[in-house]
Amino acid sequence: MAKRSQEPHKREKWATRIGVVLAMAANAIGIGNFLRFPVQCAQNGGGAFMIPYFVAFLVIGIPLMWIEWGVGRFGGKYGHGTTPGMFHYLWNHPVAKYIGAIGIFLPFGILIYYNYIVSWTLAYSAFSFTGKYFAVPDHGQMVEFLAAFQGKVVNSHFNGSGTAILFLFITIALLTWILSRGVVKGIETVAIWGVPITFLIGGILVWKVLFLGAPDPVHYPERSIINGLGFMWNPNFAALKDSKVWLAATGQIFFTLSLGFGSIQTYASYLSEKDDVVLSGLATVTTNEFSEVLLGGFIAIPVTVAFFGIAETAVLAHSGAFDIGFCALPLIFQKLAGGQIFGTLWFFLLFIAGLLSSVSLAQPMMAFLQDEFKLERGKAALVIGGLSLFLVIPVVLFLKHGFLDEMDFWLGTFGVVIFAIVEIIIFIWIFKPKNAWKEIMIGADIKVPHFFLFIMQYVTPVYLGTLLVFWFLQDGPRVIFMKGIEPQHFPYIWFARFLLAALLFVTLVLVYLAWQRKHRIQRRIPS
Ligand code: ALA
Repeated sequence: MAKRSQEPHKREKWATRIGVVLAMAANAIGIGNFLRFPVQCAQNGGGAFMIPYFVAFLVIGIPLMWIEWGVGRFGGKYGHGTTPGMFHYLWNHPVAKYIGAIGIFLPFGILIYYNYIVSWTLAYSAFSFTGKYFAVPDHGQMVEFLAAFQGKVVNSHFNGSGTAILFLFITIALLTWILSRGVVKGIETVAIWGVPITFLIGGILVWKVLFLGAPDPVHYPERSIINGLGFMWNPNFAALKDSKVWLAATGQIFFTLSLGFGSIQTYASYLSEKDDVVLSGLATVTTNEFSEVLLGGFIAIPVTVAFFGIAETAVLAHSGAFDIGFCALPLIFQKLAGGQIFGTLWFFLLFIAGLLSSVSLAQPMMAFLQDEFKLERGKAALVIGGLSLFLVIPVVLFLKHGFLDEMDFWLGTFGVVIFAIVEIIIFIWIFKPKNAWKEIMIGADIKVPHFFLFIMQYVTPVYLGTLLVFWFLQDGPRVIFMKGIEPQHFPYIWFARFLLAALLFVTLVLVYLAWQRKHRIQRRIPS
């Protein structure tokens, strides 16, 4: 792809091919790679987890990535950077654009709470640098430190969520600034710097971990990196009999590759008509997997075993990714030579990776406002920054009532799988398999065996449908009827659901208005 100049009044195009691949990789590489993946792997059979993970990668990850790149580039050809316009052209039916509204609603909804998590990583990077948590004596106190920082409790560490809100402001301000600079000067430039920085920091941390040996060989000879790597990677094949492990692996593939979000399509809409999507899509997934498995898989869990031992790490892993990331690791940094530096680096790595994913979650709404309402870039960025700041307020205030978890279930777990199925039906089935395949193969730099079309047409949707049924049976009634949740949290959970429903409704109305506008404009053009 040649370097292009930027033309005003036209949709932007990526400037360089390496820029596209890095922007897409930055879209995918996020907190999921360094925190969610190792914890999922440790919880679900260690090395054996890699079997369902690899299956999901082949039948869902790669085919869906190609589908989303293909759909996105197709829409860009008609001047649409979001799925309402893309689906409208793929399926000549009035309802298509409204189904496409989900591809704006999901990423924007996820953005609201994802920004907040990203801001914690920035705060903890600063706390590591200043040594703020270095006197916190044990795990229980570290949990209290995090809870007070998040405003869940008041104690001697923090007396309110002021600090958390300050870092949230900084995060959203940075996000708004990147968005306001546009696709090439903003997203592409930041990715060209950001992705290599995450790899560099990740590499330094892996190197540090691998040479750690056994931190206290006299008292705890079994607490070593070798045992940590064993805990993380030794396969427990019995786990494969459990459907939960397969569901977790598929969920991880979705989350880490940002599939079913609607954001890959938006990034792909800035390609030119003949730009390759096949090799570039593969390059993106490979870059993401490299950072996830070879960097993410060799930091958090092995080091936790080396300091806490296997039994305690197993307990910590079961209490979730945030416990390992924000409570166990800070204790380890206290004990590590150069811990302040390594702590700063670790959280800064999470911050860069997370911020670049936030950008990709915000870009569909940006593209929608720019493409469909001709809103100027700077204004669109301000609208998104302002709205995401306003809408995060209940997430901050009601965190302890499970507000964030509720949003994450409906959007990040359930919504993305539903949207992926819908997208396959529209692109492969309604647009017709032959056309879809032809569309993906335009400008392809490598030949792909035709059986991948069979996978896209049958295997991927059946696999996803089955997953959804199992998921629903396993989690559906518990989540919907709030089983196991104390009744005092119910009103907040209902509020989270109401907020999501309202957000979806507003997105649908915006799509309606955009299409009304288009008709008016078209009527004014003399024939
Ligand atoms: N793909 C992004 C992540 O892994 C959302 O965090």
